[in-house]
Amino acid sequence: MHEPLSQILQAARRSQSTTSHLLSFSRKQILAAEAFDLAEFLREAQSPISRMIGEDIKLIVAAAPGLPAVWVDKSGLHQAIMNLVVNARDAMPSGGSLTLSAASYRLDGSGRNEFAGAAPGDYVLLEVADSGTGMDAATLERVFDPFFTTKEPGKGTGLGLPMVMGFMRQSHGAVAIRSHSGEGTTVSLLLPLAASAPPATRQPAAASGKAAAATILVVEDDAAVRNLMVAALQKAGYRVLAVSDPANALDMVRSYAGGIDLVISDIIMPGMRGDEMAQQLAAAGCDVATLLVSGYADDKPSGGRPLLRKPFEVTELLDRVEQLLKEGTRPKN
Ligand SMILES: Nc1ncnc2c1ncn2[C@@H]1O[C@H](COP(=O)(O)OP(=O)(O)O)[C@@H](O)[C@H]1O
Ligand SMILES: [Mg+2]
Repeated sequence: MHEPLSQILQAARRSQSTTSHLLSFSRKQILAAEAFDLAEFLREAQSPISRMIGEDIKLIVAAAPGLPAVWVDKSGLHQAIMNLVVNARDAMPSGGSLTLSAASYRLDGSGRNEFAGAAPGDYVLLEVADSGTGMDAATLERVFDPFFTTKEPGKGTGLGLPMVMGFMRQSHGAVAIRSHSGEGTTVSLLLPLAASAPPATRQPAAASGKAAAATILVVEDDAAVRNLMVAALQKAGYRVLAVSDPANALDMVRSYAGGIDLVISDIIMPGMRGDEMAQQLAAAGCDVATLLVSGYADDKPSGGRPLLRKPFEVTELLDRVEQLLKEGTRPKN
């Protein structure tokens, strides 16, 4: 029996690694939490939600007046809500009602609540409730399992609720779900308040003294990541240039009259790797410090250059940048 058993073990290990890849993929996006008014956010989300559910489902959006500002990544929250809306729609094939409601919520420290793992304190509670088919206990128990789906092949991926769970955890919030067969489903998202966000993430330290005058070139093919880095660096007081590919970066470094003090480059990009680009610059006599960025766990940059792993916190990026500018680090080859 040894042979078939070891085959099974091997297959299990393979799917384990596939799962972890997909999950880290779904969390690869860098979360940029910001303070905003959830009521206004929901008002803006109303029309995309209506389009998603069609005309047979009645949409109700209700936010309690005077809600405190929440502290969450907006696009992540939008994606999470859309996942819940799609699930609700799928559970109401012949119509029904979908209610999004928001209210203040205090989580006490007793631990006797559905939000296991969340720190006690004040939150905003966002609930997405549908009048659909609901779920039996056996289904409910498995809904957060990656790839668990009751939908036919091609319709469900089983990654919607795991994404919501991953996002809420990463956001220092929580998610809970209540449902019974034939009685609809309610998903509750516990959103942290801006007032309780750690000061370090709320206000990235401004770059000081000499470093603040530095010019930084950002090379990143993903526009969302690039824009985020540019915004964070600019906010910290740096002069920032940005390009989407290594070929343009090479031209820019060679010709930019003001001089570039630091290049921050993604490693995996179309055309040329970021570390290859750095090597070409060094070979061409452009003596510029480089910080490489990669989301791939086993990606080791050549030339021993400093590496920042994605996803990173903005404060982490600023710390590394400040440190490199202070050291005036140069590539070793
Ligand atoms: N609002 C809902 N009503 C009924 N069942 C739901 C609801 N949301 C999720 N489910 C159940 O949980 C399963 C997993 O959901 P999800 O992770 O979003 O994956 P998918 O939608 O691709 O199946 C669904 O297949 C369904 O059985
Ligand atoms: Mg889904």
